[in-house]
Amino acid sequence: MTTTLSVTAPTIDTRHLKSLQPLDIPARLLLGPGPSNADPTVLAAMNRQPIGHLDKAYLQLMDEVQSLMRYAWQTDNRMTLPVSGTGSAAMEATLANTVEPGDKVLVCVNGYFGHRLVDMAGRYGAEVSSIHRAWGEVFTLADIRAALEEHRPQIMAIVHAETSTGVCQPMDGIGDLCREYDCLLILDTVTSLGGVPLFLDQWGVDLAYSCSQKGLSCPPGISPFTMSDRALTKLNNRQSKVANWYLDMSLLSNYWGKGRTYHHTAPVNMTYAIREALRLLAEEGLENRWTRHQNAAERLYAGLEEMDLTCHVPREHRLHTLTTVRIPAGIDGKAVTNKLIDDHNLELGGGLGDLAGKVWRVGLMGYNATPENVDTFLAALKQVLTEVA
Ligand SMILES: Cc1ncc(COP(=O)(O)O)c(C=O)c1O
Repeated sequence: MTTTLSVTAPTIDTRHLKSLQPLDIPARLLLGPGPSNADPTVLAAMNRQPIGHLDKAYLQLMDEVQSLMRYAWQTDNRMTLPVSGTGSAAMEATLANTVEPGDKVLVCVNGYFGHRLVDMAGRYGAEVSSIHRAWGEVFTLADIRAALEEHRPQIMAIVHAETSTGVCQPMDGIGDLCREYDCLLILDTVTSLGGVPLFLDQWGVDLAYSCSQKGLSCPPGISPFTMSDRALTKLNNRQSKVANWYLDMSLLSNYWGKGRTYHHTAPVNMTYAIREALRLLAEEGLENRWTRHQNAAERLYAGLEEMDLTCHVPREHRLHTLTTVRIPAGIDGKAVTNKLIDDHNLELGGGLGDLAGKVWRVGLMGYNATPENVDTFLAALKQVLTEVA
């Protein structure tokens, strides 16, 4: 007996789809808030055939990525792994795995990403309270102590490197305060990992997350996550299941730990990429990497000063990976960013939230943090400013 397949003719017109040309991406110098340019060595590493996510060669890569991430963050946390997704997925993982409905979460908000933490924590049923500082300021230990005393949270979250403002939050003493008040500390290191000093264990951080596309010079799509044994104890003692299946570390640990049991198909080529990006970081050495970022940032500050442009953040709290520059009166900030991309193939970021229309954001991250890029940027900006004035 023969079966006849009945195939219905497609109804969507494909003529314009068939005439599309092969992919052609413009060569941009990405000096905005991210993504930054990927290191060519990382791109080459991605350009291989995938292997099985349970292949023994892949399992070896997983171990290497975990050890390299511990080095990058300066932590001994066993539960350190890359989340499949961008930084927001790893951010969400920190909250999903710690918050049980009704838990009190305190968020320190001095920029766009603090607000995102508030939003996410609320979605997991937390009773969220927040303290605020103006966009461009940092929190003091006195601010944090007063808030812990008032709110008595189980979890506190703070952003180390606020990409929306260009502020680097000083971390000395915050972990000790959180321990004194018996609360877990979550730290956003999306714009600091691979760019500025980070000492998670020394600082007493319990959970941290980052991304691949900034200081690590890797494309976006895979994101470092870590949690301490203190945070694991809270996870193991939960009354309710983690409300997000994909990001549940009690399930993911069976794949990333000894069990090696299937959870979801790992983004294999992104694992090649982050492994290579982290290897390059280890090869350069953390201190050299941090110094390279500091030197690039200082060259930028000097060049901006020569052009009579002002940085938004006081020098002592500036983030080397991301600088906010005040848009001078009478200049159309958007016209400048448009001209930079159109005429110079150079991406510069605009302001977000409270700083929208007030600042530009210059990213010098990972592979891009070089004196040559600083000079290219300053020359292009100088030219564009004369053209739009
Ligand atoms: C400080 C900070 N946190 C979180 C995120 C979210 O990361 P992603 O955009 O990779 O999801 C970003 C993105 O730029 C960020 O700068």
